Amino acid sequence: MWHTHYSTGERLIDEDHANIDYLLDVCGRQPAAWQEHAAAAIDAFTAHLDTEERICENRRLNMTEEHRGEHIYLKATLGEMQRQIADGELGRSLFVDFTRKMLLFHVSYFDRDITR
Ligand SMILES: [Fe+2]
Ligand SMILES: [Fe+2]
Repeated sequence: MWHTHYSTGERLIDEDHANIDYLLDVCGRQPAAWQEHAAAAIDAFTAHLDTEERICENRRLNMTEEHRGEHIYLKATLGEMQRQIADGELGRSLFVDFTRKMLLFHVSYFDRDITR
């Protein structure tokens, strides 16, 4: 469940975050074919990083170089997790818990500053 105190105040960005959280929730509750749900969450998270940068550019929001660098790190981590899932090296609950924490930390340490 997405919490409002992680809100950035930008509706499209907040909707994206809530959607990624929802896809992780689905993955956590569906043991069967969970890899497909994980792939959907990874794809949504990865696409969101570009969407967020575009929205910030269009609305002249505060997208710092440090924040962009963190997006590059997140993309690399998501890609590595996708590989590990395909190779059977990463299980469902660790994937869901880790990815949700990664999202929450990113929003609270970086995304919340875009309107400041
Ligand atoms: Fe974000
Ligand atoms: Fe971000």
